[in-house]
Amino acid sequence: MGREKITVVGAGNVGGTTAQRLVEAGCYDVVLLDVVDGVPQGKGLDLSQACPLVGSDARIEGTGDYKTTAGSAVVIITSGVPRRPGMSREQLLETNTKIVKTVVQQAVAVSPDAILLVVTNPLDVMTYVAYKVSKFPRQRVLGMAGALDAARFRTFIAAELRVSSENVHAMVLGGHGDSMVPLIRYTTVAGVPLSEWLPQDRIEALVRRTRDGGAEIVDLLKTGSAYYAPSASIVSMVDAMLQDSKKIVPCAALCQGEYGLNGVVVGVPVKLGRQGVEEIVRLSLNEKEQAALAKSAAVVTELCSAVDAMI
Ligand code: NAI
Ligand code: 2OP
Repeated sequence: MGREKITVVGAGNVGGTTAQRLVEAGCYDVVLLDVVDGVPQGKGLDLSQACPLVGSDARIEGTGDYKTTAGSAVVIITSGVPRRPGMSREQLLETNTKIVKTVVQQAVAVSPDAILLVVTNPLDVMTYVAYKVSKFPRQRVLGMAGALDAARFRTFIAAELRVSSENVHAMVLGGHGDSMVPLIRYTTVAGVPLSEWLPQDRIEALVRRTRDGGAEIVDLLKTGSAYYAPSASIVSMVDAMLQDSKKIVPCAALCQGEYGLNGVVVGVPVKLGRQGVEEIVRLSLNEKEQAALAKSAAVVTELCSAVDAMI
């Protein structure tokens, strides 16, 4: 069996680095697509010429034509406008809804069995747009955010405690925004709850930094948003799905009754496998955690009603 094909739509910072990580890993063939003529073709050629040096036999092609993407196992959607300093993810809503809608229509027409992995912000709403427009089953439409938010939380905890981030497990639920819900009770270091390692005020400071993790980088970069950790998060999800690992990762997925939420796309723990979202894992939440998740989901629902007229 040959390598499976992965399409990355958007050859900007996130899409370009994602393609690079995928090509270097050598497990998949990659198509990089963008509307700006020459950019995906140029980046594709450049990446292909790195293959002999990094020991990869993967094929990579840059294109503006969806025909080249036909038969993709996964379509990663990074096309859209990123934030600039002072902007919220929600301010990207109108422009990115139009972009994601046209991308999904064209991508699913030639890859009807693909899994759609959405990255464009505002993440939860764009995943909802992809679900609606594609008419795919909910198993095959999901969004990347919780993996990144959890990685940020793990990084800050590991640095604070001077331990390997491998020892740190974290679960971050809710929407990818100010209402995200880091679950402290389910955050452990070497299996021991975080509350036994750090005082409450330090935990709160790390939670705040995680919540503002995207904005901290936007403020530093000034012309765009993060892409190294986002692309690493995307590739970890692709690997979990295409290698059928059954890894449990927080992802934006459509809830149909889970956590008392219905018809809303929001960050929940997902078992990832070759079918995509194979199960939404039910953690038992206390009253405060459940209320925070419901509040976060309500923010997403309101934004989804605003885009319903556009899709
Ligand atoms: P970027 O501006 O570097 O790249 C975006 C690319 O999309 C550009 O190359 C542009 O030409 C392309 N594009 C625009 N319209 C298109 C269309 N109709 N079809 C194909 N390509 C199109 O932006 P960057 O930094 O790569 O970010 C991309 C998106 O990902 C942004 O919305 C950003 O907010 C989001 N993001 C989400 C994260 C998450 O955790 N979910 C993390 C990081 C970024
Ligand atoms: C981030 O969290 C911009 O959503 C992106 O870095």
